[in-house]
Amino acid sequence: MRISQLVGVDEWGTVEGRPYVVYKYAATLDGRIAAADSTSQWITSPESRAEVHALRAACQATVVGSGTQQADDPHLAVRSGWDDPRLQIPVQVERQPWRVVVDTNARTPKGARVLDDVAPTLIAVAEDADARHFEDAATVVRLPRAADGRGLELPALLEELRARGVRGMFLEGGPTLAASFVSAGLVDRIIAYIAPALLGNGKSALQGGTVETMADILRCDLLDVARSGPDVRLLARPQRP
Ligand SMILES: NC(=O)c1ccc[n+]([C@@H]2O[C@H](COP(=O)([O-])OP(=O)(O)OC[C@H]3O[C@@H](n4cnc5c(N)ncnc54)[C@H](OP(=O)(O)O)[C@@H]3O)[C@@H](O)[C@H]2O)c1
Repeated sequence: MRISQLVGVDEWGTVEGRPYVVYKYAATLDGRIAAADSTSQWITSPESRAEVHALRAACQATVVGSGTQQADDPHLAVRSGWDDPRLQIPVQVERQPWRVVVDTNARTPKGARVLDDVAPTLIAVAEDADARHFEDAATVVRLPRAADGRGLELPALLEELRARGVRGMFLEGGPTLAASFVSAGLVDRIIAYIAPALLGNGKSALQGGTVETMADILRCDLLDVARSGPDVRLLARPQRP
């Protein structure tokens, strides 16, 4: 399957008034995306990680929550096959996608890797947050707090991204932010890389959210199953009522 098919480019026009949201995560067989001590890097293989760079490059924004920023200090830019010999598929980067951190209280530190000048960065913060320490290094967007008290209002974030030309948004977690997107019906497609490994304890792919009982289970249609090196890649689309 081609990269553009994986991120659903053909369907981007079917969502109205907001970017199309692709949620990607890397998990173990027991559905863990991080160990109990919050370490999460290298769950999946180099092949899967290389493919993720191509998926990022096919969208116009890569989005993470402030929890992931704090835990992993991710760089979030697309690496091309020429920049990094470990990437086994050629990734062409015509224009780096936005790197986006959803960071209500402006906790991203001054030295964060997303604040370098390799790619444009947008940090969404609350209207009253003190973001002076990164205002020179990133585009700061002020959003209302969510009515349920969980971070920022996601429709407002999507509106800001759409206004900047984002048609496909690549949501890279973490599980708390992803659960809010799922609960709000704002995930259009899921790409899961499942590594043949077990962690036992640790965070699962979604943390929190509004599904509490089987009656509310969000069924998905399975669109594709493929191998990615030693991992399995699943492609699914949530069923809409
Ligand atoms: N394996 C993988 O695929 C993968 C991918 C990403 C992360 N991870 C792992 O996941 C862990 C971090 O998970 P996490 O759940 O703490 O972090 P997260 O989901 O990245 O960030 C959650 C935080 O985002 C902020 N936020 C702003 N608006 C929000 C909204 N509307 N809904 C929900 N959150 C909102 C909240 O903090 P504020 O309100 O304070 O801003 C919230 O606590 C790390 O261990 C990381 O390594 C794994």
